Amino acid sequence: MILRHSRIWLFVFLTWAAARAAEPVKVGFFMSITGRDASFGEASLRGARLAVDELNAAGGVLGRPLELVVEDNRSQAGESATAAKKLIARDRVVALIGECSSARTLEAAPVAQAAGVPLVTPASTNPKVTETGDAIFRVCFIDPFQGDVLATFARKRLNLKRAALLVDAGSPYSVGLADYFARTFKALGGEIVATQKYSGADTDYRAQLTSIRAAAPDALFLPGYYVSAGLVAKQAKQLGLTATLLGGDGFEAPQLLEIGGDALEGAYYSTHFAAENRDAASRRFVAAYQSRFGAAPNGLSALTYDSVRLVADAVTRAGSTDRAAVRSALAATRDFPGVTGRTSINAQRDAEKSAAIIAVRGGKLQFVEVIAP
Ligand code: PHE
Repeated sequence: MILRHSRIWLFVFLTWAAARAAEPVKVGFFMSITGRDASFGEASLRGARLAVDELNAAGGVLGRPLELVVEDNRSQAGESATAAKKLIARDRVVALIGECSSARTLEAAPVAQAAGVPLVTPASTNPKVTETGDAIFRVCFIDPFQGDVLATFARKRLNLKRAALLVDAGSPYSVGLADYFARTFKALGGEIVATQKYSGADTDYRAQLTSIRAAAPDALFLPGYYVSAGLVAKQAKQLGLTATLLGGDGFEAPQLLEIGGDALEGAYYSTHFAAENRDAASRRFVAAYQSRFGAAPNGLSALTYDSVRLVADAVTRAGSTDRAAVRSALAATRDFPGVTGRTSINAQRDAEKSAAIIAVRGGKLQFVEVIAP
């Protein structure tokens, strides 16, 4: 009798253990898959899917498959907090990955922080993002560095002296990056000759560009995203503005060239990853991405690929899917070998990474140089 009972319990236990082993480890992913910034969502999701599939092919995490639960915020304000809430409460995700845009990560971060669910943003560069609290991390550089890199490049390499700024007033990324750029540009003897504002959904920038033209700048700094950047380039050219166009990582999208066309010739921007001069792991990533998606990965694809792998690594190091343990493991990340470079999480929960400068030449994107922190 006793023997029979213990057999039953053993059976129950083994069934439970098997079910649990097969139970996926869920990671929440929220991004602009559709809407104005859809290119960011697409590049990011591709990087995430590649990482998840590779990890699963290699046995998953803690012997369990990794599952990406995807939410689309449609590039809209207000949607990212809702997405984070859903992923946390409905799907019980172990961690969140998102967003690209600092504005949208800033919406979701307080939700994640309050729930004690670690959030890793692949690409939000505004300092305030990780200041939200100890559950918020990023794997990319921050804008004080990016602004400094761009201004130094503009002054020292291009010898530009008179910069105009065209800023998306509703975007913390844009406002912050404009400030950091201006600070270094002035410290290096340059002058900010005009500052004009626009708002995220605008498509007509001619009034601002007309005032900018009157200030005779030799540099036009546009800390915005690719749709605005392409349209601004076109309209600036139509208005006869000849200033060198400069941008940040927000330019990073194949659609930039489609929208801006030859008006972008001679422009420069900074980003997180360049396929050139890479180690074996990065080259392998570039090849795997290229063969799966028929296109080269950009900075956002690479950063998201790294984010997923970093979360999986933290779960493995934590030895459990307990959110607090995973949070501590993320905070303890040192020298994680990412395809965007070695990643260490510092005391501010930011990563210190190099920036790459890209030029538009002959209708193509050309790697110029890497600038280390
Ligand atoms: N860094 C930008 C932000 O914080 C987002 C971005 C990153 C866009 C990388 C494109 C590529 O808003």
